[in-house]
Amino acid sequence: MSSHETVRVDLGPRGYDIIVGDDVLAEAGKSMAPILRAPRVIVITDNHVAPLHLDALMRSLANAEIAAEAIVLPAGEQTKNFTHFEKLLGEILGRGIDRDISLVALGGGVIGDITGFAAASVLRGIDFIQAPTTLLAQVDSSVGGKTGINSPHGKNLIGAFHQPRLVLADSRVLRTLPRREMLAGYAEVVKYGLINDPAFFAWLEGHGADLVDGDPAKVRRAVVASCRAKAAIVAEDEQERGARAAESGAYIRPCAGGRNRFWPYAAAWRGGGDRHGDGLRPVGAHGALPGRGCGQGAPASRCRRPAHRHQFYQFDGLEPQTADRPYGEGQEGVGG
Ligand SMILES: NC(=O)c1ccc[n+]([C@@H]2O[C@H](COP(=O)([O-])OP(=O)(O)OC[C@H]3O[C@@H](n4cnc5c(N)ncnc54)[C@H](O)[C@@H]3O)[C@@H](O)[C@H]2O)c1
Repeated sequence: MSSHETVRVDLGPRGYDIIVGDDVLAEAGKSMAPILRAPRVIVITDNHVAPLHLDALMRSLANAEIAAEAIVLPAGEQTKNFTHFEKLLGEILGRGIDRDISLVALGGGVIGDITGFAAASVLRGIDFIQAPTTLLAQVDSSVGGKTGINSPHGKNLIGAFHQPRLVLADSRVLRTLPRREMLAGYAEVVKYGLINDPAFFAWLEGHGADLVDGDPAKVRRAVVASCRAKAAIVAEDEQERGARAAESGAYIRPCAGGRNRFWPYAAAWRGGGDRHGDGLRPVGAHGALPGRGCGQGAPASRCRRPAHRHQFYQFDGLEPQTADRPYGEGQEGVGG
């Protein structure tokens, strides 16, 4: 079997590939070369990721004769604000760019979101490539073209839809990811099982622990399955007006919540926590059997209670919730 798998996001002329595999970063230059308008990129990353993975990417770009420079931002959600966005635009423009240059986002969802929004904004739009380094970014935020920053009024309230030209999801970079960040991404992976794929959900019940421990084959399978699910949703509803809004909201609707096309399948809600996926507590797959939905507010005892729910969240100090929360509690801004 090849060490790479490719998932296509089918958006006609704006369509792109997601390459998933073990040495994707080492081959990034080769993968990017055919789609770049000019062999020049600016890599945006953060100060946690830079010492771990920036060199590998820069080497690969140099090998492919792509001129590259880097901008390193502070790590963390607080970087997704106006101050950093303005500084970032200034840095990019200060490097004497034209519209043929591309940005490369090397990092988690924070770097992907702010870089994508910078790409949508400078010179009225330039190309960008996602090189996601968290599980959450590989399975969710790097795919679909939602970019942006936070505002004092809420999360992700300022931004643009701007699709990347390519997504490079290297499974090996996840080896340096703290376990808590793996768990945040895992919650997103479970979401795809709950939304629309009972077989994948069942597979996760058996293999989720290995996945969170970083088993490369399991990580790759989960990333590919998640990206396929996300790609299908994005292709159907690029600007999040129907199905995609439901996907985004799936985890903030309690059992008896929104009756969108996913409601019989999705039963998860968002609690507290300071990571994107922290609050996503899988509460069971009531709807894994179509027609026996949870919309009637099935009592917790009648839900399937996936072993991994307890296994992961309790042991990591993230208590699984057992009582329903009203819709909207803990909700802030708009989804990812
Ligand atoms: N655009 C979308 O569709 C979408 C979807 C979901 C979430 N989001 C956004 O994504 C953000 C959350 O993303 P996140 O969870 O990736 O957080 P993050 O980008 O803050 O990364 C989490 C932490 O892990 C570190 N890190 C990243 N990769 C690493 C690696 N390989 N090794 C070691 N450390 C590493 C980062 O420096 C950071 O400290 C939120 O701002 C959220 O709004 C966007």
